[in-house]
This record gives sequence, C-alpha cells and structure tokens, in this order.
Amino acid sequence: MLDLTPRPGDLESIETASLDELRALQLTRLRATLRHAYENVPLYRRKFDAAAVQPDDCRALEDLARFPYTTKQDLRDSYPYGMFAVPRDRIARIHASSGTTGRPTVVGYTQADLDMWADVMARSLRAAGARPGDRVHVAYGYGLFTGGLGAHYGAERLGCAVIPVSGGMTERQVRLILDFEPDVIMVTPSYMLTILDEFERQGIDPRSTTLKVGVFGAEPWTESMRNEVEQRMDLHAVDIYGLSEVIGPGVSQECVETKDGLHIWEDHFYPEIIDPTLEHVLPDGAEGELVFTSLTKEAMPIIRYRTRDLTRLLPGTARTMRRMEKVTGRSDDMMILRGVNVFPTQIEELILRLPELAPQYQCVLARPGRLDEMTVRVESREPNPNRSRLSQTLSDLIKHNVGVTVRVEVVPPAALERSIGKARRIVDNRPRP
Ligand code: DLL
Repeated sequence: MLDLTPRPGDLESIETASLDELRALQLTRLRATLRHAYENVPLYRRKFDAAAVQPDDCRALEDLARFPYTTKQDLRDSYPYGMFAVPRDRIARIHASSGTTGRPTVVGYTQADLDMWADVMARSLRAAGARPGDRVHVAYGYGLFTGGLGAHYGAERLGCAVIPVSGGMTERQVRLILDFEPDVIMVTPSYMLTILDEFERQGIDPRSTTLKVGVFGAEPWTESMRNEVEQRMDLHAVDIYGLSEVIGPGVSQECVETKDGLHIWEDHFYPEIIDPTLEHVLPDGAEGELVFTSLTKEAMPIIRYRTRDLTRLLPGTARTMRRMEKVTGRSDDMMILRGVNVFPTQIEELILRLPELAPQYQCVLARPGRLDEMTVRVESREPNPNRSRLSQTLSDLIKHNVGVTVRVEVVPPAALERSIGKARRIVDNRPRP
C-alpha cells in the first residue's frame, strides 16, 4: 500500500503544538463555553445552579469534573430547539438523529460552527491520507444524518473533488467507483462490505480500483475487519468517529501512518472518561464511558455529554492530541448472558478467524424461559459449507474466548438483511418488560 504519511508542513500548527500550549488553549475555550452555555441555555443554568457551580469556578481543566453531565434525555426533553444558545436567525443548519425510540435529538449549527466542522473534517481526511486534488466518493447517507454532509464539506474544504453518492443502490456504487476513479471512499464499514460483495458478484476484482483510502465509521468495527477490507481491496482502512450531539463525523480520526487509535481533535472537543455507574472521572488509560465538552461551538455548546461509547484515552503519537482506542461498543449494545457481558464486536473478531465465514452477522436475543439466550446468525462465504461443523467451531470459539454458550446458525451468502448505513447487529426478540 502507498505511504501516505503527511509532510510536517501539511499539518496545522496545533496538531503538533506542545501539550502546554494545547492545554492553555483548551482552558481559555472551556471557560468561555461554560459561560456561553450558562448565560444562554436555561437547562444549563438550572443544572449548574442545582450543582452549586458557576462558570468562573472552572480555573483549571480538572475543575470541569465539578460540572453536571448532559444526557441524551436532556436533549430529548429540550426538543426541538431548547438546547440552542443563539437566536433562531443565526442557525444555519439543523441535523437530527434518527431516534429509533422516542423523540429524535436535534442539533443546530451557526455558520461559524459549520466552518469549524468543515475544518476538523478536512483535518480528519488529511490524517486519513487524502490530499487536495483527490476525488472522494461519499457513500454516507445525506440528510438529517450528519455523515453525508459532514464528509462532503470536509472534503471540499481540503480541496478535493466530492462525488456525493449517498448510501444505497449498491450496483451503482460499484459502477461509479469504476467510472469516476475516486481515490478515497467514505462509508460505514458494514456497507463497504456489501459494496465489496457486489464487486465480487459482478466478477470484478475489488483490488483493481483506484481507491487508496477508506474512511470508515459511524458504527463499531474491529481490527480483524480492517485486515479483511485491506486485504480484499488493497487500500488503507482508517477509523473516523463522531456523533451529532458533539458535531457529527470528525470528532476524532485515525492517522494513516500509525493506525493506532483515533486522535481526538482536542482543540475543539474536550474528552473525559468516566465510570458509567459511579459517574466519576477515570484516569487516562482506564476503560470507561467517553464524555465530551465542546470548546468552540456557538449554536449548541455541549457540556459533559455522556456518549455511552466505551473506550480508553491514550497519549498522542502521530499528533499532540490524545487518542481514543477503537470503540468496542456502546453501553446500550452490551448484552448480558448469564452474567457475562458480550459485545457484537467480540463476536465479529471470532467470526473473522474462520475463513469460511463472512463478517455479515447478527446477534439474535430471545428469552424462551427465564434466561436470555443468544443465537449468532452468520453467513458462509460459499453456498454449501459444512454447516454443522462450522457452527460447532464458532460456538466453541465463543465459549472459550468470551465465556458464554450461544447457538450458531450458519446461513447462505446474502441471506441476512443488509443496511446501507449503520448495520443492525443486535436483534432483540425478548419480551418487553
Ligand atoms: O454516526 C457520525 C458519523 C458519521 C461518524 C460518519 C463517523 C462517520 P450519530 O448518528 O449521532 O453520528 O451516531 C453517533 O455512532 O455515539 C457511536 O456510538 C457510533 N459511532 C460513530 N463513529 C464510530 C466509530 C454519527 N468510528 C454514534 N466507531 C456514536 C464506533 C462509532 N462507533
């Protein structure tokens, strides 16, 4: 694969600034954000007052721990515009989460917010290995979801040509990759696999395309999945993370030259890791729930937002900013089987150890009696494998590595539902309480 390490002169100065410089900038911005939130959003004023803290009580970055958390429920309760900190006529864009349950969460941006977002996305793309003049195929969905438009404006900001394909119409995705010869593709990892399968169905070698980088995110994916996609496509597969409540994609990005976790663009988004149950801050290196505070947002400053994503903070390598380890899963995706915590990504790792299985899978939960049971439904690569042997091998692997007994059902290629965005890895058929 190509060496895409950026030249030092290509980076923004803050990406390689000293830690002292970065921390000083963060503190100034944090204090201004706390003030802005307190003065302009009634919810923050109420919460700060209830916790008996004032913006000026934040004299050092560690003081942030004294301020209250913000949850998805707070955003839902403020539907649609209660979290906005600027007058309505300064809002330049509105996005919203799909909200599978309850009200969607609505987020707003001023023009300055949109500029900052395009800047961090351009920075992310450069870290991923994209360069001005490259063609970028965007297969993240366009719409209220932040993936498509976030990627779009970031690629433009970097000086790339954007091909705004959006998700879906998989045959056409393949055709456009062949005809328009993009250098970079931006898509969810699960939909990338679907596109890959379509290449093979059409008898076209996916290694023969012009693509040199895939920027994959919006859902958890594993190192084994990276190896699979890099092998099958001959491109660099790098991870991008973000969430609409904080800005959208471009909160953190893996650097192509190191592929060792995602550098958080800490000059705009301040991370903390907390114990999800006891709710106190954990030291860097400890695994817990990721919490973000925005440092520069105008329309919707967000203070200590609980993402529910589980990861660890690690020191910077290719950049000054700290890294977050690849997200192993969301606390909401954690399945508990006879007391053992299981995430879909753990199952994915094990599926990918068996060359006869494809990484297209679902974890189906049921409760036939008093206990939860899980069936892993997974596709084989060939239409007629030895199903019973494969099922046995995978369930043994899961038993030995995760410590739970599950049923495995090996289904034919293309038998499972495909998503054009985020994959649905958990199908919960348990009776509602
Ligand atoms: O998924 C934004 C995005 C678009 C990120 C395109 C990357 C690429 P939401 O729809 O608000 O925003 O969902 C945010 O998705 O809290 C994580 O649980 C999950 N997520 C996003 N990126 C990753 C990733 C977009 N790289 C939620 N790894 C987050 C694991 C991810 N999970």
